[in-house]
Amino acid sequence: MSSVEIRDVSKFFNGVPAVDNVSLQIQEGEFFGLLGPSGCGKTTLLRMIAGFESPDKGAVLLKNQDVSAVPPNRRPVNMVFQSYALFPHLSVFENVAFGLRQTKTAKAEILQRVESALELVRLPSLGSRLPRELSGGQQQRVAFARAIVNRPAVLLLDEPLSALDPKVRHEMQAELARFKQELKMTFIMVSHDQSEAFALSNRVAVMSAGKVEQVGTPEDIYNKPATRFVADFIGDSNLLDGNIIAAERDHYVVEVAGGTKFYAKSSVGCTPRQKATVWFRSSSVELIVNDAQSHGSDGSVFEAEVLHRSFQGDSSEYRLRIAGDQFVIATMRNEIQTHAIGARVRAFVPKAGTSLFVANEN
Ligand SMILES: Nc1ncnc2c1ncn2[C@@H]1O[C@H](COP(=O)(O)OP(=O)(O)OP(=O)(O)O)[C@@H](O)[C@H]1O
Ligand SMILES: [Mg+2]
Repeated sequence: MSSVEIRDVSKFFNGVPAVDNVSLQIQEGEFFGLLGPSGCGKTTLLRMIAGFESPDKGAVLLKNQDVSAVPPNRRPVNMVFQSYALFPHLSVFENVAFGLRQTKTAKAEILQRVESALELVRLPSLGSRLPRELSGGQQQRVAFARAIVNRPAVLLLDEPLSALDPKVRHEMQAELARFKQELKMTFIMVSHDQSEAFALSNRVAVMSAGKVEQVGTPEDIYNKPATRFVADFIGDSNLLDGNIIAAERDHYVVEVAGGTKFYAKSSVGCTPRQKATVWFRSSSVELIVNDAQSHGSDGSVFEAEVLHRSFQGDSSEYRLRIAGDQFVIATMRNEIQTHAIGARVRAFVPKAGTSLFVANEN
């Protein structure tokens, strides 16, 4: 049974679609990530699940029930916001208890539930403080406690960690992973941050301009981007425009401006002379150190000049210029060898690390 189903949902603001015919099925207990650039409709989608907005088209189902007519406070769903949205004049305890008091829950039960929620977020002794007496990370823990205290089936998280500094953010990511283990809830988390979404999510949807571009495991999205947009949005991608000049048994040959030929794999059928974009990650590029190294026909080899090197700890990122003033980014582990600016190098891209997007696909 789906915990949350979004069925052909669209939402328009002033005639412009913020969410454009989106369908998603999210399983019970799943941690689902929503990833995409600013303005692509992530928050609007969450707000429709929570019931703060209603779809102009399509339906939202919770546990297979259409909830179109159900107001937000009657949906088994809670939302955690980037801004915490705590009541400043109420203590931590009262912030967490707020929803339970509204529903006239018995006093003893409120006490027990609030304490166990504060324990889960590791703030058991801070119940009497006011929000302004807490750090940002602690305030966000209170916001989590408040969202889970009435045991919703679905927890919606809208960039919950983005206001935190990197170290606290990292700790809170680990905490979210623990909540996921301990609470049998469905999580849907919006993030700008790809590594955060990948670290926590069972599956991720990548959105662009109101539409879902791809849904898959983090591994699928990273290794097999379905569209040019996803390839460009996720990770360190090289995208080079060119023309298909030959179709071989397991790859196409694409010539890019300047004449460099790339061997690229594609899951869709292409025809010679078609315009296409070759894609590969910077980490797929190898700079050939030893001339005796032979890569045979399992990839593309090309000459390049090192324009820039940025040190990144155990690796370096190289900006390379190839024929025709085209650029390629390569990431290489420093233990292999470092290359100076201005050096001429040979580079290799294995077929296995490539893909192809044909020009009219997106
Ligand atoms: N209440 C509203 N009235 C008019 N336009 C809106 C409203 N809410 C959202 N929009 C528009 O809908 C689009 C999607 O907005 P949304 O807030 O869902 O994006 P988002 O993906 O959450 O972006 P961000 O990552 O910046 O939070 C944007 O173009 C936004 O300006
Ligand atoms: Mg948003």
